Amino acid sequence: MTVPPLLFDPTDPSVARDPFPTYARLRESHPVWRSPASGIWFLTRHADVHAAWRDKRLGSSFTHRYTAEEFVADGELPPWHDARYADFAAFERWDLISLEPPDHTKLRRLVVEAFTPRAIERQRPVAQRLVDQRLAAGRERGTLDLVRDIAEPLSLAIICDLIGVPPSDRSAVLALSHDVVAMYEPQPPDAQKARANAAAREFMDYTAGLIAERRRTPADDLLGGLLDAVIDGERLSDEQVTSTVMLLLMAGHEASVNAAGNGVAAFAAHPEQWDLLRSDAALLKPAIEETLRFDPPLQFFQRWVLEEGFEVEGTPVPRGARVGLMIGSANRDPRRYPEPDAFRIARGEASHLSFGGGIHFCLGAPLARLELEVLFGSLAASLPRIELLPGAVRRPGFQFRGYSSLPIAPTA
Ligand code: HEM
Repeated sequence: MTVPPLLFDPTDPSVARDPFPTYARLRESHPVWRSPASGIWFLTRHADVHAAWRDKRLGSSFTHRYTAEEFVADGELPPWHDARYADFAAFERWDLISLEPPDHTKLRRLVVEAFTPRAIERQRPVAQRLVDQRLAAGRERGTLDLVRDIAEPLSLAIICDLIGVPPSDRSAVLALSHDVVAMYEPQPPDAQKARANAAAREFMDYTAGLIAERRRTPADDLLGGLLDAVIDGERLSDEQVTSTVMLLLMAGHEASVNAAGNGVAAFAAHPEQWDLLRSDAALLKPAIEETLRFDPPLQFFQRWVLEEGFEVEGTPVPRGARVGLMIGSANRDPRRYPEPDAFRIARGEASHLSFGGGIHFCLGAPLARLELEVLFGSLAASLPRIELLPGAVRRPGFQFRGYSSLPIAPTA
């Protein structure tokens, strides 16, 4: 039997570092390609990824419709279906991203209430103060790590404040979050899965403590709101509150921080675009959309094919298959964007798929955009150019694309 060629290997560090040439090849030869290594059917073109997010025959999970025996998955199940990772599975049980209607509809309605445009806008002066302080401190010190000194503390402080996590716990939350989300990398090694599972347990225990404390001391934060909320005459269970709080505490900074780092790196490589941004404040919002299109912080999301009849550009994809919606590839599809590899902040195109689509469309998109606006607006006002200094460190892995450290010159 001939082994099919591995056209795309997300576990290869060189592919993870720069996946775009591989995406370009795959997009032209294979709008959909089944990886023999993971069993995932990767969708590579913008129109197909966009449509898949809205296709009711696909689902984030299958357990709302089938038992594991009835479903017969094509390829391996995600790691948390393995009994060794039962703690992670307990978190996943009520993870909004993995829920489907009607559970998803109810829980999402509740969380959306906390993310009203007014509630988000209230964070603008908070974000501005923090960024101003951090920039001033960097100038004084003469060093500035864009990720560690600004982007990470910014996103972490805002999501933790919204939820009601005390400042003293934030670095522990950050470390747990990084360990938990490593489970979502394609084909994680066993040690990584075990660490993710242990971190999920610790994170759940920590959140249980937060819940107990909030019951003792009520407060007007998101956690208090979730505990008081009543949907269809019922309160949320502690398990539902725990998973929701954990998801928000992870989603609330992982991608935004990476988006900030990737965006700054893009401007460093395209100084003429930085000049353009500095010359016209009206370009701030389009510039942020272009950074998200050009180098998205999350590379792909998965869906199960729940019914027969799903096909992509003439290729049937069977029921039971897992499809990978490749954001990074879709955002560079020349069928959608002229000269897709060019970074142009005046494109005026907000059609990138970095925030997903359909019922799971990113609930935190307005908050992420606000943080990025404050950050890039402040950098543009104070730095005539973005100069990267030695010492940048990329995050390991493929799915969470960004930097864990990105030193830049704090004055120019
Ligand atoms: C640039 C930053 C961000 C990016 C690129 C991003 C991207 C995404 C994507 C692609 C999804 C869809 C996942 C899927 O379809 O399976 C999603 C969902 C979600 N995001 Fe974000 N996100 C960002 C920031 C945030 C922030 C700041 C928050 C929290 C406040 C957040 C909270 C969520 C939640 C709760 C969901 C699940 C929504 C649902 O399942 O209904 N995200 N995000």
